Order: sequence, then structure tokens, then C-alpha cells
Amino acid sequence: MLELIDKLYKKNYLEKEQLLYILNHIEVYGKDHLIKRAHETRMKTYGNKVYIRGLIEITNHCKMDCKYCGINIYNKNVDRYRLTLEEILICCELGYRLGYRTFVLQGGEDSYFRDDIIVDIVKSIKSKYPDVAITLSIGEKSYESYKKYYETGVDRYLLRHETASRRLFEKIHISSSYDNRMKSLLNLKEIGYQVGAGFMVGIPDQNKEDLAEDIIFLKKLDPEMVGIGPFIPHRSTIYKSEKSGTLEDTITMLALTRLYLPYVLLPSTTALGSIDPKGREKGLMAGANVIMPNLSPKSVRDKYALYDGKVSFGYEGAESIDCIRSKINSVGFQLDMSRGDNIKWRTNI
Ligand code: 5AD
Repeated sequence: MLELIDKLYKKNYLEKEQLLYILNHIEVYGKDHLIKRAHETRMKTYGNKVYIRGLIEITNHCKMDCKYCGINIYNKNVDRYRLTLEEILICCELGYRLGYRTFVLQGGEDSYFRDDIIVDIVKSIKSKYPDVAITLSIGEKSYESYKKYYETGVDRYLLRHETASRRLFEKIHISSSYDNRMKSLLNLKEIGYQVGAGFMVGIPDQNKEDLAEDIIFLKKLDPEMVGIGPFIPHRSTIYKSEKSGTLEDTITMLALTRLYLPYVLLPSTTALGSIDPKGREKGLMAGANVIMPNLSPKSVRDKYALYDGKVSFGYEGAESIDCIRSKINSVGFQLDMSRGDNIKWRTNI
């Protein structure tokens, strides 16, 4: 086990069978070593910096029917909202003053936000704050739409693949297509975005081989960012009685991802902070190097409920920057308020 972990540490690659061996045995033996190697890798690439993004949840309307997600189209218990351009700009103003230099605009797949509206929002933010990076995360769009956003000045795009296993993907989605999700990620890469893929850990019926596939898929795609969080049930979905993914399994997947993709930007996600009060810090100690506190207006934060128990205030609120900084310092890291681009992006490392 230790030799395999060290081989991965040196080569940033293992075949799927060896990876599967690690996944099947890590709980018993080797976990500390894996975390240590992931930490060393992150120290070599990004040092002790933690990058920060302000997350603005622009709409909880969604036309999709992802079975696990609390804002899916069939959930009639959601109090739906959309932010106006003015509201989004107020979030950016607040964030900019606090020192944030990346804004992540995330939302459900909401047909109200036509391309011209998105373009208008992006142009308005970029003209007021030319030194910020904008990340979009509004789901699957056509190549042309992605291209339009990019040409308007969007720097990065987050689109989790959710699971690289076709069987599981098709089980947890009704109308989304696995092939279209994968194609969308390739389109985003081709256009030139810094691309974020990612997956959930502990999806009902997910096995170790599915998780191994996630890592092998990521290694091939070579995204600039990877978002990994535990699946957490939402009370109005069919998975309401299922168990959440565990902190331990999520930490293992974060550490393995850091070893396979040493230069990736890896958030310690809100979902991780939601299942354990120390989740965010534990993620940072296992190779994660980004946090994304919530910069949405306080009045809508509870409405963007993708799963039960989602934290969005206190340490998770973008306004709590001093508290965030001291927590990060307490585990040996330094908050970096720059845009925080992927250091390998557009270089030949
Ligand atoms: N548990 C954990 N993560 C979820 N997401 C959606 N629903 C859930 C859930 N029930 C994640 C998906 C999506 C991201 C925005 O939130 O991975 O891509």
C-alpha cells in the first residue's frame, strides 16, 4: 500500500487496478500516508496558499430533473428566486471591497438567463472590476453559447461531471445525457476556459470502481479545477432516506485527485463543510487549496438548497473574511486574495 501511494506521488499516475486496490484497502491502512503525500504535493505546486472565490447563486430556477438535487424541476417546495443585474452588482461590490478577486456566478439551468442576459451581466461586472476573474456555472449549453460567454470575458467554467460511470449517471439523471455532459466539458476545454469538472462521493449505489473511474476520467480530461463533495440527501427528493457520503471517503478522493493532478485547483467544498464542522480544514490538509464562501444576498441563501443542512452563514459567509482567514491560518495555510488562476494554465508544465 505505502509503495503504491509513493509510486503515485512520484509519477502522478497509477493504472485503474492499482487505484482500485488503494480504494479497497485505504480505510484499514495507509490513510495518513496518502494525506501526507497529497499535502506535500500541494506544497510543491501551490505552497501553503489557499485561494478564495465569492460564490453568487444567481437563480434557483432549474429545468433539469437531477434526482439528487434539491432544486430540481419537480420540487414544488422550493421558493424560487432570480437575482437582478443590480443585485448581482451589489454582491460584487461588497465582495470586491472585502478583497475578493474571483466571482463565481452559479445557478440552476434557468431559461430566463438567455445568452444576451448573461453577456450583459458579465460585461457589467468586467467593466466595473477589470481585475477580477469570472467563473460561470450554469450548466450544459451549446458550443456557441459557451463561446459567446468566453468572448465576453468569462475566464472559467464549472460543470461537474457528477460521476464518470455511465451506469450511475443514467441512474441519477432523468433527461440529461452522459454523452452531452462529457461533450460539454470537451467543448469548454477547446474554447479555452479554465475548466472545472468534479463529482459527488457516496451517491446511492456508487461503488469503488465508479470512484476509480472518476479519477481516471479526470486524469484524461486534465481540468484546471475539480470540485468534489459528499452526496447529501435532500428531504424533497427520492433519495431523502439515503445516507450521505462520508467525510473519510471524500478526503480520500481529494487526496487522490491531488496526487493524480498535482496542479489542479481543488476546493474544500461547502458540502464537506456541511457534513462536518471541521470538514473544510480537513479538506485543506488533504490537498485542497481553494474555498468558495457564499457571497449571495443573505435573503436568498437558504433558498439555494441543493441538499439538506447546507451551510451558508458564519464561516461559510463571504462577509466573514476575518474569521475565514484565522481558521485557515490555524491549520498552517495563508489566504491568497489574488485571482488565483491555475498556475499550469497556458504554460507547458
Ligand atoms: N448532495 C451533494 N451535492 C449536490 N449537488 C447537487 N445536489 C447535491 C446533493 N444532494 C452538487 C452537484 C452539482 C453542484 C452544484 O452541487 O455536484 O454539480
